Amino acid sequence: MKRGSFGSRLGFILAASGSAVGLGNIWKFPFEVSNGGGAAFLLMYLFFCFILCFPVIVSEIAIGRKTKKNAIGAFNKLNHRKWNFIGKMGVLCGVLILSFYTVVAGWVLGYVIEMVNGNFDISNDFGAYVNDIENVFLYSILFMFFTALIVSKGIEKGIEKAAKILMPSLIGIILVLIIYALTLPNSIDGIIFYLVPDFSQINLNIAGNALGQAFFSLSLGMGMLITYGSYVDDKNNIVNSAALITLADVGIAFLSGLIIFPFVFSSGIETQGGAGLIFEVFPKIFENLGNTTGIIVGSTFFILLSFAAITSTVSLLEVPVSYLVDEYKVDRKYSVWIVAITILIIGIPSALSQGKYVFFSDFITYFGSDQPIDFMQFIIDISNDTLLPFGGFLITIYVSFVWKKQNLSDEISKGYLNYKGSFIEKYINFSITYICPLILGSIFILTFINKFF
Ligand code: PHE
Repeated sequence: MKRGSFGSRLGFILAASGSAVGLGNIWKFPFEVSNGGGAAFLLMYLFFCFILCFPVIVSEIAIGRKTKKNAIGAFNKLNHRKWNFIGKMGVLCGVLILSFYTVVAGWVLGYVIEMVNGNFDISNDFGAYVNDIENVFLYSILFMFFTALIVSKGIEKGIEKAAKILMPSLIGIILVLIIYALTLPNSIDGIIFYLVPDFSQINLNIAGNALGQAFFSLSLGMGMLITYGSYVDDKNNIVNSAALITLADVGIAFLSGLIIFPFVFSSGIETQGGAGLIFEVFPKIFENLGNTTGIIVGSTFFILLSFAAITSTVSLLEVPVSYLVDEYKVDRKYSVWIVAITILIIGIPSALSQGKYVFFSDFITYFGSDQPIDFMQFIIDISNDTLLPFGGFLITIYVSFVWKKQNLSDEISKGYLNYKGSFIEKYINFSITYICPLILGSIFILTFINKFF
């Protein structure tokens, strides 16, 4: 059976950027920024993305393209079977992320309908909304269904085609919303809050969050880019592609802050700026715009979020699917539906963890803390903030000491003529050998201890 591939360079970049740009950029990034001292967080985040993550992105794509295999098979193909635990960890992590991501995406999809119906009061009932379990399940299943449908059509006809339609629409919607947001009264206060740094807020916790956010947002450290990289041809310039993917991801995160903070500040609504920001505060803001405008802006906003989310869930689903297709020769259609249903089941505790079912909402208490946290947050702590940076750390160790930098350079130079001897080669090699393992390793250990103990 022929293995799929992307039909064009642009297709790959859109699909990989589509994976990167998701709820992480539009829902999580703005409130991380506001909790982390505004622009101070932003600067750290940019540093992590461009200095630390960039060489890891290049490495993942190179491993995938070299081997033309999934996240686990790639290590076997390079004859480093012992190291395939990095891929196994990645697949597990992808499954965990997708299990809660589908729940949140289900809330988003449900909100599209609420906004279309002009039900702005939903903002007061968010707690009840997420505990209306039948409703939540219904929308999560629907979201997973669309995701699986796209993945089942394969790389070029499914994933690439969806990205080519959804990504430009996403950018269009973002631009329209920014222009609208900037015309609102007092929007400038939001911009100031967003962009003027308060360096006194920087501490280890915030640095750990910024690192986790960088990895999560770039879809890095769990083999997604090994998988997508395996569908890329040798003419592709991996370094350029990695740069474009990083720019798209950081750019859209940044732009979504330009929508969100003007909205919040011009509405005058007090907010803690937590995870509920978008669900609890935004409908109120839309309501203030008047019924018709509110319905239009509100549904557009949640459609935007759904588009961003589905190009990410597609990539999350593709990681285990390509593993089954490559290694066990399971038919793509078959494996898509098996994996999708399994992940929906794994997501049930996350869906149930929003308050009504105390077992899941007070799921675990870390050492030295007296606040229990819910099941979904527990999964987020394990996957986003722990497994992803750890995976990135292991990949840099693997590339520099096991696979060897020479092989990385050979692979990159296939699509990048003067790569060898260039400054960028020296930089990438230096970075994956020294900077990344050192910084990733130490931040990982410190935040791990800090978070769980
Ligand atoms: N990057 C996605 C987002 O920001 C989430 C994601 C993580 C997708 C890991 C794939 C792999 O929402």
